[in-house]
Amino acid sequence: MSSNADLASRVDTSDEWIRTRTGIHQRHLADPGQMSSDLAHQAALQALSAAGIAAADLDLIIVATSTPDFIFPSTACVLQAKLGAARCPAFDVQAVCAGFVYALDIADKFIRSGAYKRALVVGTEVFSRILDWSDRGTCVLFGDGAGAVILAAADRPGVRASVLHADGSHAGILSTPGQLCGGKVTGDPFLRMDGQAVFKLAVRVLDEVARETLALCEMQPADVDWLIPHQANVRILDATAKKLGISPAKTIMTVDRHANTSAASIPLALDVAVRDGRIKAGDKVLLAGVGGGLTWGAVFVEI
Ligand code: UT7
Repeated sequence: MSSNADLASRVDTSDEWIRTRTGIHQRHLADPGQMSSDLAHQAALQALSAAGIAAADLDLIIVATSTPDFIFPSTACVLQAKLGAARCPAFDVQAVCAGFVYALDIADKFIRSGAYKRALVVGTEVFSRILDWSDRGTCVLFGDGAGAVILAAADRPGVRASVLHADGSHAGILSTPGQLCGGKVTGDPFLRMDGQAVFKLAVRVLDEVARETLALCEMQPADVDWLIPHQANVRILDATAKKLGISPAKTIMTVDRHANTSAASIPLALDVAVRDGRIKAGDKVLLAGVGGGLTWGAVFVEI
């Protein structure tokens, strides 16, 4: 765990600035030897245990990450081997902070098609590896982590509706623009961001995609029991909930303890709220993510 005070000893920032501008109090940082697949492995084991199934029962593994272990093989394949879930298809999805809703939607569609019965969907990141620790405008915002869910074929509703979008014309406002050349990263290998541009777009598209998703199943924001937006910044969460007319009391907020963990933020928040008893079976939960690309999407799910 790394507190805001810890960061203030490394860069020109303060606990007060970070708390008031972002709502972040602390973040978890992976040990140097821990990779995305290691965090994913822990999250996957907990999800399997909660679902009461074995790794061998999985038909599909999808990992959302922008900080994979390797260029290839995919982190999903590395995870599959760690779980001992041989032979089922496994692949990564790269949609940055919207990665988990992308992966969930893909898994849902595979299951609906009848191709697979049980899917493991993981969001995992070690963003600490792509942060410029001398850039106070970005390094204070992110953390490492992983969260996972199991999706299974059933006659209950589960995922009621989902919508994904992307607009590559905004690629420049949030990126890690380094390139691979001759076996080396050339150019800038660190995360760069126009924070205010991301902020404004994030609030707009989260509101739009939430409404679009609810409309697909003839629901209103008032029908949402719990809203779980991507945990980027408490001000983005508050503004999104306010635009949608959803009470802050129905909005799950874990950015204070995890910071922005990109593709891991939504499943981590879901996990916290399920384990502390707020989200219960039968609740209608709206997950909404936005990230570099720009990518964004929402999944409305009955737990
Ligand atoms: O998954 C999506 C990822 N992206 C995001 O979540 C980013 C969304 N954007 C944001 O969350 C906000 O734009 C930030 C938190 C990044 C920045 O907040 P802001 O209210 O937009 O601040 P700002 O960029 O306008 O900066 C205000 C001041 C500047 O100083 P001057 O020019 O007013 O003297 C910055 O240099 O705050 C300064 N500043 C800091 N000061 C202390 C920037 N970072 C820090 C820092 N500590 N860590």
